[in-house]
Amino acid sequence: MLSSKITILILSLLSLSNGIIAQGELPKCDNILDLIIVLDSSGSISQPDFAKAIDAMKSLVSLLKIGPKKVMITVINYSSNVQIPITFADMKLSTFSIQWLISKIATLQHMQGGTDTALALLEAKRVCDTTCRSFNEGVARSVVVFTDGQSNSPSETAKQAAALRSTTQVNIYAVGIGGYNLAELKAIASDPNYVFTMSNYQQLTVLINDITNKTCMMPAFVQPNTKVNTEVPANTYRYYRMDTSKLRSGSGGFFELTADVTKGSTRVFTSATNTNPQAGSSREVTLQLKGTQQHYLEYIEPGTPKYYFSVLGVDPVNEFEFTPRILDMNGGVIG
Ligand SMILES: *[C@@H]1O[C@H](CO)[C@@H](O)[C@H](O)[C@H]1NC(C)=O
Ligand SMILES: *[C@@H]1O[C@H](CO)[C@@H](O)[C@H](O)[C@H]1NC(C)=O
Repeated sequence: MLSSKITILILSLLSLSNGIIAQGELPKCDNILDLIIVLDSSGSISQPDFAKAIDAMKSLVSLLKIGPKKVMITVINYSSNVQIPITFADMKLSTFSIQWLISKIATLQHMQGGTDTALALLEAKRVCDTTCRSFNEGVARSVVVFTDGQSNSPSETAKQAAALRSTTQVNIYAVGIGGYNLAELKAIASDPNYVFTMSNYQQLTVLINDITNKTCMMPAFVQPNTKVNTEVPANTYRYYRMDTSKLRSGSGGFFELTADVTKGSTRVFTSATNTNPQAGSSREVTLQLKGTQQHYLEYIEPGTPKYYFSVLGVDPVNEFEFTPRILDMNGGVIG
C-alpha cells in the first residue's frame, strides 16, 4: 500500500525534460547558507552516472534562494586535478538568475583521470577559509561531495575531510554515485545521516528531498562571546548550535544569551538534544530586561556536548543581534 503510494508520488514529481525535478512537493529553503559543491568527474564514473549527479546539482540549487544575504554557492570539480568553475563572486547580481546558474552547471565536463578527493577537500577548505561568511553573520556552512568514493588515497581523503570539518565547522554531505564505496563516503561525511546514495532516477528525487531538507534545517555554528547580527522573516526559524564540550568533564554550567531586537519581534527556543528547537517541541526562552539588553540564562547539564537554540520571526521583518556565552558554575565565561 505505502510503497505504491510512494511510487505514484515519485512519478508525479519527476519532470526530467530539463533535468530538474519539479518543485511542487519539495521543501523550500529559507536558510542562510554558504554552500560548496564538490563534484568528482573522474574516469571511474560512467557518463550516465555523471549525468545523474549533474541533475541532482541542478535540482538542489533550484530549491535554494541564491543571493548575497541568502545562499552563496561555489562549485569545485576534480579528477586528478582540481578546478573551480563556478564561484559566487563570478555571478553578476544584476543579471543573475537561477537559470543562468543551472546552465553553468549543465556545462560541467565529465573528465577522465584519477580521483584526488583529498586535494578537492583541501581546496574546499581553502575556499571556505577565504569566502565563507564570518561567524558573526550566523550563516550555516555545507559542503556536498558527489563522488564514487574510490579515491586515490582513502587515508589522505579521510584526513582532509576531518581537517575540513574541524577547521571550518562545515557540515559535509557525501553523495555516492555509480559503483560507490560506502566506507569512504562515511569517512568524508560529518555524520552517517549525511551519507546518501544514488543509483537511479527514483532515488534522485528522494535524495534531493532529503538533502534539501537537511541542508535547510542545518543550524549555523556560533562561537561563544561573538555577536551575531542577522534577520529572519515571519514564521521562519533561524537555527544555531554551540560547542559546549568544554563543560563535559565539569559539573555543568550555563548558557547565557544577551539579545537586542532592533526591528520586529522574535521568539527564542533552546534544546540540548534537538538540533532544531521549535515551538511546542522545545523550551521557550523568556528574555528578561537587563540594562538596555534582553538577557537569558539557562543551566546546562554536565556532559552536554552541543547546545542548540533557534530564533523564530514573528513580525514581517525582524532584525536582531545576540551574543551567546557559556559560563561555568561560578559564572566565569568559558571560551
Ligand atoms: C524535513 O523533514 C522533517 C521530518 O522528516 C519534517 O518534519 C520537516 O518538515 C521537513 N522540513 C522541510 C523543510 O521539508
Ligand atoms: C571542470 O569543469 C570545467 C567546465 O566544464 C572543465 O573545463 C574542467 O576541465 C573541469 N575540471 C575538472 C578537473 O573536472
